[in-house]
Amino acid sequence: MGEIMVAKHAVWPRVGDPIFNISERAQKAIEKLGKENVINATIGSLTDDDGNLITLNTVFDEYKSLPNSEIAAYASIEGQKDYLEAVKKACFKDSIPNAHIRAVASPGGSGSIKLAVWNYTNQGDEILTSDWFWSPYVSISEEVGRKITTYQLFDENNNFNFNSFRERFLDIASRQERIFTILNTPAHNPTGYSVPDNDWDKILNLSKEVAQNKDKKIILFVDVAYIDFAKDDDGCRKFFEKFTNLPENILVIVGFSMSKGFTSYGMRMGAAICISSSEDVAEQFYYSCVHSCRATWSNCNRGPMKVLANIINDPNKFKAFIDEKKIYKNMLSQRASAFVEGSKKCDLEILPYIDGFFISIPCEDPKAVSEELIKDNVFVVPLKKGLRFAVCAVSEEKCAVAPSIIKNALESVRSQNLSRV
Ligand SMILES: Cc1ncc(COP(=O)(O)O)c(C=O)c1O
Repeated sequence: MGEIMVAKHAVWPRVGDPIFNISERAQKAIEKLGKENVINATIGSLTDDDGNLITLNTVFDEYKSLPNSEIAAYASIEGQKDYLEAVKKACFKDSIPNAHIRAVASPGGSGSIKLAVWNYTNQGDEILTSDWFWSPYVSISEEVGRKITTYQLFDENNNFNFNSFRERFLDIASRQERIFTILNTPAHNPTGYSVPDNDWDKILNLSKEVAQNKDKKIILFVDVAYIDFAKDDDGCRKFFEKFTNLPENILVIVGFSMSKGFTSYGMRMGAAICISSSEDVAEQFYYSCVHSCRATWSNCNRGPMKVLANIINDPNKFKAFIDEKKIYKNMLSQRASAFVEGSKKCDLEILPYIDGFFISIPCEDPKAVSEELIKDNVFVVPLKKGLRFAVCAVSEEKCAVAPSIIKNALESVRSQNLSRV
């Protein structure tokens, strides 16, 4: 290797993004064979049956009606006042916890994760999340010298594996001052799972037990990127109410994103929202995050902030937005049901799906299975422990037939591997 000009901490393996790579291959197959002959289940955005990105008219009509100055002007570093109020309503709806709540604008949900990780962990700390997880958690953590460590999301009955969570949580608590946990719920990426309310009780009871030691600082980061595509708008938010009256050394930070719920992926708008029983802890959150914003991206995109505030604060616009979104929520849910039913029919094991954009299939040798599927013109994302199938981007008809194709590919790879032994 020649001269290395980047600083040591900035040298990373030269790998492309594996998801974009496989998406590109799917795109080439579509150009060659026609979209009717390809199943492209790699995309992480909601598309129609022809693969075109779905965009909500209620969002983009509002955006295009804004005066230029409302799009072009700088925003406040922390986010516009009306946005910061409206985003709490959008996030919690009727399940707002009784606590001190402060929000800071961020570029997408990703920005909120960065704000939380940077300001609430120390150099070298381990951050806990489930073994099925969104891979940028690793990049975001490693970028600033933190490490991701995992618990098993599911037990042998495919329920939330609280014992594994507990064991890893206590292990970190025995070694670190800070126990920072990322829970991506409801509608988890990549499985579509949501942590049930009774398991939330267990997580909070464990957190309170550990919090009796006042030297420990517990941060629960709740990534709700997909919350607005959960079927039960109100039911899926009930767990927020449990964040009332927590000890001062338990801080909840919710990572909100407009990307999916407002079909605004590239507009880069989100928020980090803290929930604390202490006003002072909430103030600290606010000033630390505002400092990071100024030091990293300065202010955020003003236009989408105004769009969210205008829609949330106008009952007619809000109703039109909800009604329009409902059409696509139903579409998503029918696609997912078709996939789940298809899996039952051919006995394909999938992880418990409740809501969201993706379904996961646990398997050995996911890379080989994904390559085998490409022979059948089916493109999925291989993860460490299985495959991710994007029901958000595949028609109901294709969702119904995909499971048996996947089952065949799994069996074929299994027998190839056996014959090699
Ligand atoms: C689990 C999860 N969290 C957060 C995000 C944040 O997305 P964005 O930064 O686009 O809001 C995503 C987007 O794919 C995601 O899948």
